[in-house]
Order: sequence, then C-alpha cells, then structure tokens
Amino acid sequence: MIMPDRPCITTDLERASRELAAGRLVAVPTETVYGLAADATNPAAVARVFEFKGRPKDHPLIVHCGSADQAWELTAEATPVARELAAAFWPGPLTLILPRAPRVSPLITAGQDSVAVRVPDHPLLLELLQRFQRPLVAPSANRFGRVSPTTAQHVLDEFPQAPLLVVDGGPCSIGIESTIVDCRQSHRVKILRPGKITAEAIGQVLGENCLDTGRQQEPAAVRVSGDLPSHYAPQARVHLVERQDLDSFLRDFPRSGDSTLVLATGDRPAEFEEQFSWMRISGNPEQFAAQLYGLFRAADRQGFTDLIVELPDPGGIGIALRDRLQRAAFRAS
Ligand code: TXA
Ligand code: MG
Repeated sequence: MIMPDRPCITTDLERASRELAAGRLVAVPTETVYGLAADATNPAAVARVFEFKGRPKDHPLIVHCGSADQAWELTAEATPVARELAAAFWPGPLTLILPRAPRVSPLITAGQDSVAVRVPDHPLLLELLQRFQRPLVAPSANRFGRVSPTTAQHVLDEFPQAPLLVVDGGPCSIGIESTIVDCRQSHRVKILRPGKITAEAIGQVLGENCLDTGRQQEPAAVRVSGDLPSHYAPQARVHLVERQDLDSFLRDFPRSGDSTLVLATGDRPAEFEEQFSWMRISGNPEQFAAQLYGLFRAADRQGFTDLIVELPDPGGIGIALRDRLQRAAFRAS
C-alpha cells in the first residue's frame, strides 16, 4: 500500500494494523491523549518513534497492552501492588513501572531495567490491540516538549507534512496523560506523574501506608520526561493565579492590547473588557482537564502572547491539572 505524503485520518483498524505490522507508525486515540504507536517488538519501528517526535533517546516509552496478562509478559516480576492496581484500574489511565523482562528492547526503556506498561481504555485502541496481538509503544503524539494532542486534528496540526495514519477515535475523554506509579517494590508505590487516578484512589486500593509521598529518592534511576520542569507548554507565556486573586492580578497586569487571553470560570468583569480577551472554562476540573490542551492550542493559533489561567482547586484531577499548568508556566530564564 502506498502511504500518502501527509497525515491521513481513518477509522479502518485493519489498515492501521497492516501499517503497524510493516513497522510504520500510527497515531492512535486513548482515553488520555493521542499516542504515536509502533510495534513494541520491532526495534526499528521503536527507533522511528524517537526520530519522528524528535525525542531524546534517554526518555523511555510506555508500552500499551490489550490485557494485564500481556503486560506482565513484559515484566520480570509483576509485584503484588501492581496486580492490585491493575485489577482496580485497568483498562484505564494508569501506567505501572515494573522490572523489565529481558525480551523488552532497551530502546523502549532507555537502557533502564524498568518498563512502563498500561492497558488503555479506548474501544478503538483496545480493538486494534486485539487485532494486532502485540504490544504497542506509544508516547503522546506531539513533537517533543510540546502540548499533547487530544483530537485527531491536533495530531495533524503537529505533523502536517508527515506520512502518518491517524486513527480517529474522537476527542479524548480525560484530556491529560495517565498517572504513572512506580510499582517495583512489592508493598510500596510512588506516584511519578499525577493524573486522573489520584493518590487517594490508589491509597483506597492498597491502603494508605503503601503510598510513598516523599520526594523522589532516585532521580537517576527513574526518568520521567514530565520531570523536566518546562513541558506541556504552549507558545504563549502562561501565568497562573488562584481564583480569589484573579481580579487583583488582572488589575496589576501590564496593559497588553489584544494579546492576552484569560481562562477563568467566571464572566469577564466589565472593567476588563478593553484589556483582556476572555474564555470561560468549566468549574468542573474533569471538564477543564478535557478542554485544557485544546485551549492551549487555540490560544497559540490565535496568536496570544500571554495566557492567564485560573487554577483549579487541588482536589481529584485538580492536582494533576495544577501539575501540568505549573510545567506549562515554567520558563527556564
Ligand atoms: O496517558 C499517557 O500516558 C499517554 C498515552 C498516549 O498513553 N502517553 C504518554 O507518553 O504520556 P509520554 O511518552 O508522553 O510520557 C511517558 C512518560 C515519560 O515521562 C517517560 O519518561 C515515562 O513515561 N516512563 C516511561 N518508561 C519509564 C520507566 N521505565 N521509568 C520511569 N518513567 C518511565
Ligand atoms: Mg508526552
């Protein structure tokens, strides 16, 4: 089959499966964000993922599986905590870090002796995994360091010139990346990246004292690219403000003409009509999470130089949202 020289949207899973079998990349929907998938058992295909994204080789990939049993085959040991979390949350937005089985290519794990696995909860991707029968590596389908895509169109916008098949599964229901949990110890876990599955939810399954809440002790041993402080960032400068401080923040904000967009849960007060563009966001943090990356992209498309965002409350998915917003707001200089 001849691939077009631009991205092409499809819902034909047979075609997607053939592409993957030929060692090519396919963008796939998940419940969190769109992924850039390749056959995890084909090292050349895995290498193509790094090239395509411009991703440094020392950032390991998550392996997506059709079942927990397929995931355990990639691990040297499925610890008791991993099994409990998988039973509670898979298929779902939870990635488990476990000791790697020898069969897993070191390219996938960036040479580490651990592997990241998850069973995603999206009907099209689950069906594709069933058909394909092999696990798929899939980082978020964006250029390295950029905002994750949450629709098929976002993937096209990221890679407008590339020959890439994009499976269209509609907008992602969750909208931010999976929770990553280090499960290498048998009775103790640590959250490496917050997500929709919260510490409370994990504590409820495993018991509170299984949760290590301290700072990461072994930064060299486990690398999470979300750990880079500046990540998930739009081009616009991002300013964060707590709800109760919004009005005073805006009053003090330097006059900017039309180039500043405010994302806030309330209506624009009349006094700010001239100074700020304004978009209402949902006061429900789950809905805000589903909107966030699309709003970042829309703000960039419209050329805003500054984005002022009202922070969601730090409960439930709000913790993960605040984490992504803080990374988006971080500037190295
Ligand atoms: O929701 C998600 O997790 C999405 C969808 C597509 O599944 N994927 C995603 O992939 O966010 P990516 O590549 O953008 O982020 C994967 C994260 C990276 O921060 C990476 O460092 C971390 O997972 N990771 C992968 N393998 C790891 C390992 N062995 N130890 C620690 N972190 C690991
Ligand atoms: Mg990513």
